[in-house]
Amino acid sequence: MLNDPRWYKTAVFYELYVRGFQDGNADGNGDFRGLTERLDYLQWLGIDCIWLLPIFQSPLRDDGYDVSDHFAIIPEYGTLADFYEFLEAAHRRGMRVIADLVMNHTSDQHPWFQESRQPGSAKRDWYVWSDTDQTYQDARVIFVDTETSNWTWDPVAQAFYWHRFFSHQPDLNYENPEVQEAMLEVVRFWLDMGLDGFRLDAVPYLFEQEGTNCENLPETHAFLKRLRKEVDSKYEDKLLLAEANQWPPDVVPYFGDGDECHMAFNFPVMPRMFMALRREDRTPIVEIMNRTPKIPDAAQWGLFLRNHDELTLEMVTDEERDYMYAEYAKEPRMRRNIGIARRLAPLLDNGRRQIELLSSLLLSLPGSPVLYYGDEIGMGDNIYLGDRNGVRTPMQWTGDRNAGFSKADPAALYLPFLMDPVYGYQAVNVEAQERVATSLLHWLRRLVQVRKQHAVFGIGDYEPLYPENRRVMAFIRQLGDDVVLVVANLSRFAQPATLDLSRWIGLLPEEMFGRTPFPIIDGTPYRIAIGPHGFYWFHLVEPPADPDDTATFRAIRGTA
Ligand code: NOJ
Ligand code: CA
Repeated sequence: MLNDPRWYKTAVFYELYVRGFQDGNADGNGDFRGLTERLDYLQWLGIDCIWLLPIFQSPLRDDGYDVSDHFAIIPEYGTLADFYEFLEAAHRRGMRVIADLVMNHTSDQHPWFQESRQPGSAKRDWYVWSDTDQTYQDARVIFVDTETSNWTWDPVAQAFYWHRFFSHQPDLNYENPEVQEAMLEVVRFWLDMGLDGFRLDAVPYLFEQEGTNCENLPETHAFLKRLRKEVDSKYEDKLLLAEANQWPPDVVPYFGDGDECHMAFNFPVMPRMFMALRREDRTPIVEIMNRTPKIPDAAQWGLFLRNHDELTLEMVTDEERDYMYAEYAKEPRMRRNIGIARRLAPLLDNGRRQIELLSSLLLSLPGSPVLYYGDEIGMGDNIYLGDRNGVRTPMQWTGDRNAGFSKADPAALYLPFLMDPVYGYQAVNVEAQERVATSLLHWLRRLVQVRKQHAVFGIGDYEPLYPENRRVMAFIRQLGDDVVLVVANLSRFAQPATLDLSRWIGLLPEEMFGRTPFPIIDGTPYRIAIGPHGFYWFHLVEPPADPDDTATFRAIRGTA
């Protein structure tokens, strides 16, 4: 596992909520002891890197994105020793672990903030205080469901404090060198322990500047470069993954010249996958891919379909947003902030073919895929829960009590599990899907396996093709002689497509799941038919000298 500084480029990631994964001590909350018991499952699924939602001590008013002690574990999750044991157990299985690092803000319960509130205190300057709430008016409010301003009055401090998120999450003041030092100390503490890196939460907002929208400022990039330098100088094989929900030209700078973050989430492409599917037209995806600047060699996109937040609709036009709400959030309670708080399966009306189609794009477009816990079995959501809790309900392991998640009384669970007839734990659970070879879980595992056999998916170039039929999306991934052709039908009806494959005349497209040979590419346009919401991954290979001597024919003849 060691000495592979670009491991993240071919890795499959799995995002999980410790509190929702497995309860090891029957108190109704998932914890590290429980999670450790479930590592075999993640290894079986083919996961290379686990991303843990926040694990540092917190009053949990924003599920850990409100840190109150950077050097301790959330008590409900266990002790530092439990965490360390989990980390070692993951490493023994060849899996890496990254965790959220919330740099922009802390909880208002953090001793730093409590001290800062005291007029004249040594930490006064650790947060952003002001006599007026009229500064930085060009900065948008992000949590529009709960907040009306980025300033809140503090009667103790007799001043307003700045916060880009909840008012209980005051922003740290990065102008202060002590704050920068403190955060670097936090980074060293966890990396020294063996953590493999961080998802950098909310990085665009570290600095503020009057007259700007206070996002992506040069000072923010300078600090991130400093962080990267610190990491590179002391450690090997670590990962910094930026959460910057921005338009492509504003995200790409988070890679720097290969001297800032190793990875960044590709936010703009995510809603466009859903849009393309509903419109049955590849244009939204192809267009945003074409508008995305090239990234440095060592850099990598993080691709995702769903995560622990709402399906954000900030990086789309007003018209596109209206369309998405109309198509995917028919009920108002499905909306959260500027987005839709739903899981993958319910968004797609539990359509198995649609789930497979979007998953096939997730695992073949340029970037490293990040799966969200529970989506591999098609878990549902609970739109009646507040905030984004509806997509954070307990993992459904079995049809037994509490879905096999916990031995606590159901009333003690941190959130109720799903009980409805379609997505409830008796209908959707890991145990049942492990038993049935045709389940979504087995299918997805196979998809992961096939992807992992070919580095081209992680590090190959991407080039779109433009078949006349826009219901069909087709692109090439290429790494030297290794060429993969992906063809996806975004329509619910069967479609024909004609592809210009003239650069690969003489090669044979071999379907990658069944290793089935398709007709050899000749000088004529390549015609293909594709079923409703179907997709193909083809490996373009040299045909065997004897045209009948392919894996399939050998298998048919029994000579394989
Ligand atoms: C982004 C995280 O994904 C979200 O869950 C959180 O509420 C905000 N950052 C604030 O930390
Ligand atoms: Ca527990």
